[in-house]
Amino acid sequence: MKDFANTNTALSVNEAVRLARQLIALRDPYTAHHENHVGEFAKAIAVEIGFDEKFQEELLIGGYLDDVGKIIIPVSILTKPGKLSPEEYSLIQNHVQAGFDLLKEVSLPSNITRAVLEHHERLDESGYPNHIKDDAISMQARILAIADVVGFHDVGSPLSSCADRDRSGPWFAVRQ
Ligand SMILES: [Fe+2]
Repeated sequence: MKDFANTNTALSVNEAVRLARQLIALRDPYTAHHENHVGEFAKAIAVEIGFDEKFQEELLIGGYLDDVGKIIIPVSILTKPGKLSPEEYSLIQNHVQAGFDLLKEVSLPSNITRAVLEHHERLDESGYPNHIKDDAISMQARILAIADVVGFHDVGSPLSSCADRDRSGPWFAVRQ
């Protein structure tokens, strides 16, 4: 494919993000709804802490796209009621690396792609995919992880009614 970089037809970052969000929404409206909340809440956290505008925007985009890798997961698994099998849960975990691999193909700032890769890592090494901990996890990813949980519980979110259901279900995977 012709490289349109530096031409008038090149997609801007904002356009690429908008396209990705539309694709997420077409395939999985629940995830799209959740991602909107994650992005907005992550940015609000950054504003409250006092991070600069660039950092705030990186979090907004990171939140919008952190689950874009779920494109590799069958919708039947994403929306499956009840328990997931270990294989299904493992497949859901793959969305992190898949999202990173997808986004690194476009010219997004590395702070965003790294946050996407690390948004399920946990300070105590219990996260995934690389089981990193503490300061090895970027600040953006740590804020996204918080926003992910809050977005999940957001009143009105289609996922919020699932909060008390089985921890092995997809709603739990969203929170992990
Ligand atoms: Fe995720």
